Amino acid sequence: MLSVVVLISGSGTNLQALLKATDNPLFPAKIVAVGSDKDATGLTHAELYEIDTFVVEPERFSSRQAWAETLLASVQHHQPDLVVLAGFMRILPANFVNALKGKLINTHPSLLPLYPGAHAVRDALQDQAKVTGVTIHKVDEGVDTGEIIVQQSVPVETNDTEATLHEKIKVVERELLVQCVEDIANKKIVLA
Ligand code: GRF
Repeated sequence: MLSVVVLISGSGTNLQALLKATDNPLFPAKIVAVGSDKDATGLTHAELYEIDTFVVEPERFSSRQAWAETLLASVQHHQPDLVVLAGFMRILPANFVNALKGKLINTHPSLLPLYPGAHAVRDALQDQAKVTGVTIHKVDEGVDTGEIIVQQSVPVETNDTEATLHEKIKVVERELLVQCVEDIANKKIVLA
């Protein structure tokens, strides 16, 4: 059974999909804790499933390094085999990323390397892209630059707004993320 820690910053609908999937005893992974960089609304999903939560706010630390060390200690306390960034909106410094090498993945709402960063959906629309999508990738120190694991495209309609397009992407994203975690647990995907 693969032990998973999920980090979020927002509404946590990807987390919710993972919680629902892993609640099935036949699913080969379980979520052992959910962390955040703020009092994110998505933490309530974890509480509903009685999963441990932790919040480590960067504002309380004198440096990113110090923040990341405490975040790392909170993650490692749960001894995860996999750490999933599911809408975690902070760049993680080297001390965090290196300590979790081969165990750290992120989901991003574009077909990377197109539209990295915090405004991927807006950027695709501004670029008049006809197609965008989802990428799940390994995490390195860069902004959405780690090796790509899986991608799935989503068509952009002419009347799409940032909100409608992001919602369509998230429908695909949730399914892809659950499948990816299952494949990692079943060793169909090897991260190292
Ligand atoms: C997702 O689209 C994720 O890729 C992006 O932010 C969104 C988070 O959504 N970075 P949610 O919090 O899982 O609902």
